Amino acid sequence: MDELRDAAQATEAHIAVHWKEEEYYWPPAKFIAQANAGDPGILERFSEKHFPECFKEYADLLTWDTYWHTTLDTSNPPFWKWFVGGTLNASYNCVDRHLARNRNKAAFIWVPEPEDESTAVITYQELFARVNEFAALLRDFCKVKAGDRVTFHLPMVPDLPVAMLACARLGVIHSEVFGGFSGFACGDRIVDSGSHILVTMDAYYRNGDLLDHKVKADQAVEYAREHGVTVDKVLVWRRLPGKYSSPTPMVEGRDFFVDDLLKDYRGARVEPTSMPAEAPLFLMYTSGTTAKPKGCQHSTGGYLAYVAGTSKYYQDIHPEDTYWCFADIGWITGHSYIVYGPLALGATSVIYEGVPTYPDPGRSWRIAERLGVNIFHTAPTTIRMLRKAGPDEPKKYNYHFKHMTTVGEPIEPEVWRWYYDVVGKGEAVIVDTWWQTENGGFLGSSLPALQAMKPGSCGPGVLGVYPVILDEEGNEIPAGSGKAGNICIRNPWPGIFQTIWGRPERFVETYYAKYCTNTESKDWQDWPYFAGDGATHAADGYFRILGRVDDVINVAGHRLGTKELESAALTVDEVAESAAVPVVDELRGRTVEMYVALKPGRDSSAETEAKVSYAIETIIGKIARPKNVWIVPDMPKTRSGKIMRRVIASISNFTDVGDVATLANPEIVESIRRKVQAEKVARGDLPKALSAQELEEIQRFGRVE
Ligand code: WT7
Repeated sequence: MDELRDAAQATEAHIAVHWKEEEYYWPPAKFIAQANAGDPGILERFSEKHFPECFKEYADLLTWDTYWHTTLDTSNPPFWKWFVGGTLNASYNCVDRHLARNRNKAAFIWVPEPEDESTAVITYQELFARVNEFAALLRDFCKVKAGDRVTFHLPMVPDLPVAMLACARLGVIHSEVFGGFSGFACGDRIVDSGSHILVTMDAYYRNGDLLDHKVKADQAVEYAREHGVTVDKVLVWRRLPGKYSSPTPMVEGRDFFVDDLLKDYRGARVEPTSMPAEAPLFLMYTSGTTAKPKGCQHSTGGYLAYVAGTSKYYQDIHPEDTYWCFADIGWITGHSYIVYGPLALGATSVIYEGVPTYPDPGRSWRIAERLGVNIFHTAPTTIRMLRKAGPDEPKKYNYHFKHMTTVGEPIEPEVWRWYYDVVGKGEAVIVDTWWQTENGGFLGSSLPALQAMKPGSCGPGVLGVYPVILDEEGNEIPAGSGKAGNICIRNPWPGIFQTIWGRPERFVETYYAKYCTNTESKDWQDWPYFAGDGATHAADGYFRILGRVDDVINVAGHRLGTKELESAALTVDEVAESAAVPVVDELRGRTVEMYVALKPGRDSSAETEAKVSYAIETIIGKIARPKNVWIVPDMPKTRSGKIMRRVIASISNFTDVGDVATLANPEIVESIRRKVQAEKVARGDLPKALSAQELEEIQRFGRVE
């Protein structure tokens, strides 16, 4: 065992050295010649001395009903207000204003998972009709009005952006819950947002199966009822026209088929409601260090301006491009870079329903070839999966990307190079965009025509965003020092979320309290935004993101809160204590492993392990399913009783557990290590050589209070 561990660490040192030697890649001349941001003057225009007025350039991409008078209002820090005095409607900006010149242009091209089902093209005119009709239904049948919340639990179908834009048209705040989440997770978010309407779908395709989805709506509504919130109406879209594909009965008076209801709204038109720039556009829930997900509240004017601006300059979307962001609209990436950003620019955005490798590893490239996709955007987890399933597959298809994005987690330089050489055929520029649910849009990335790419580093701060790395005391760690610290953003930017829905104190506490030196100050300079990621800053100004510094596990590019996972495990009767830790995984970046200690007198059994796994899957969703559940006699704890997740994370990853002498029960560490590692080796789950950044993450895991 120890030999295995030593071997892992020797390789690690090699990787750490190798990392420093990453070379620059320069964008192809052909890309530079056509780029939206090709003039280096743009860097000067967005430099700090022009802040915040530089963001006028983004706001001017939109059509305002009333032009704004104040770019940035800092009178109530850190509740920044952008484009104050301005009014606009997001649905008008994404749909109506494109009709005069482009009504027959594809807004969305929807690719169903079954390959024999035809692709659906939704023109701007058709989108306009659908958005208006659904808005009329929401207004007249559901009686919702500006400021109300409506929850969606929808898969990757065009009905999702239609519903989003219909809410936006009315000034109603939408809250989409990722379709893969469980009914309970959806119910929890319904309760938190106080929604009385749920929009869902009966079923959807995933990996060849038509999955029942409506069953989750029943669970969500029941959960909400138990927690004091009544859902009055459940609107159910049908995946297959006119056919109900769920075995779950429709509840009389509560559940309605959308296609039936829409018959009464044929041709309806709804005047877009002009909303203040600071009116909330939507909520997007994300995990944090507590068991309660945070409803990140995004604004209308600042958010839309920011996603339009970054889509233009960083995604380099032109009117003639076919842009495919292969993320789920149920996450922030999909909201910003499938729906709002591209549509604000009048672009054509591809939506694919299913998994990248269904029915075979060539599927994604067939889609790209057939639709003439030239901008491709996805996450490292998908890239790794495609590479594993079909490393040579892209060569068989005649598509050409000019631009590719990676987002959501750090990408290994080796995977980056496959993306560049094989997927991009050496012709495409890559942007590695670092940001978060809270941020609305990109924070760190190279500007594709003007700044070189460096595999594994996201790049410098984006236009108008000035990051800094601070140590625990708040001292700046200078570029080029080689030391890691907490990456923070020194200034506000228009896409920043406004607050955590209903919990302003938690908003201030989580993101600003750590580094604010003067809470009385009205000067933005005194309020650095704490992102919760560890990073290093190279001498060339590029940032390398190391991962989360809090108790959050990034699985396949998405954050899962350890407390949420642990509370789910505690619903199993036998379980007394639980701890969730990240394990480095070849495909998903990280997976979850659960450690549980049982109540006195309960015997460990495979059945208990299965119960824990099942509880997590049903309470949170399949994405959170643990790779292993380890039943241990006790958890390593500090003298004050805090579970040392970092120690068990080290065990799961075969890294050094560090000094455990000060623990209340140091002897337990060795016995857990023997049991877990021996079992892993027996299962063929051998220790992986961790990269410098993976090692750093495991050693820091759970350190921030
Ligand atoms: C966390 C945010 C908004 C994108 C989707 C995920 C990690 C995100 C990168 C990147 C390294 C990244 C960070 C961040 N992350 N992008 N390009 N390189 N790490 O949104 O679920 O809110 O997760 O994802 O750790 O804090 P999210």
